[in-house]
Amino acid sequence: MDNHLTVVSHPLVQHKLTLMRRREASTAEFRRLLREVSLLIGYEVTRNLAMTTVKIDTPMMPMDAPILDGKKLALISILRAGNGLLDGVLELVPAARVGFIGLYRDPETLKPVQYYAKVPDALEDRLTIAVDPMLATGNSSVAAIDLLKAKGAKNIRFLCLLASPEGIAVMKAAHPDVPIITAAVDDRLDDHGYIVPGLGDAGDRMFGTK
Ligand code: URA
Repeated sequence: MDNHLTVVSHPLVQHKLTLMRRREASTAEFRRLLREVSLLIGYEVTRNLAMTTVKIDTPMMPMDAPILDGKKLALISILRAGNGLLDGVLELVPAARVGFIGLYRDPETLKPVQYYAKVPDALEDRLTIAVDPMLATGNSSVAAIDLLKAKGAKNIRFLCLLASPEGIAVMKAAHPDVPIITAAVDDRLDDHGYIVPGLGDAGDRMFGTK
């Protein structure tokens, strides 16, 4: 573990991830587990949020109580699989602003092609958390972070479920200032750019498509 990469080794995360990886996990089970894992890794990605204090009255007495500081954070889902992580993190931070970046992977070149982007305003003043379950080749993640930086984001974190060593290296080369938080780092990519052992196509598994 270094500053650029955090692997959330919590036993509940690892247990749930194993259940999700199984070929026989149903769509409903996969989705439920993804939501549960996203709460746990979302807890980790929000660990160092800036805090301030506010004066409140408890039923007993006034106090200076801790509260989140600064502008609402921005959650950016990288479509479509990002939505599976988004839901859980949004439960933890319901006031977050939400953006979407649509990228598909050209099956020939494995390069990302952008087809949609709508992100919150004032990204320069917000902690921006990009979510995508699979950091595979890293190409689409780099493209999404490029876009967020072009829109002004300066403080960005990348949250995923599984990462490949290749994807981590590509992200670190392009965006060394963007920490990656993941539940696991798998062995490698296969010839089609899939993570192995992995869990297959995260989007297909959570939405029941093929
Ligand atoms: N996207 C997925 O959904 N799975 C992979 O293994 C790689 C990219």
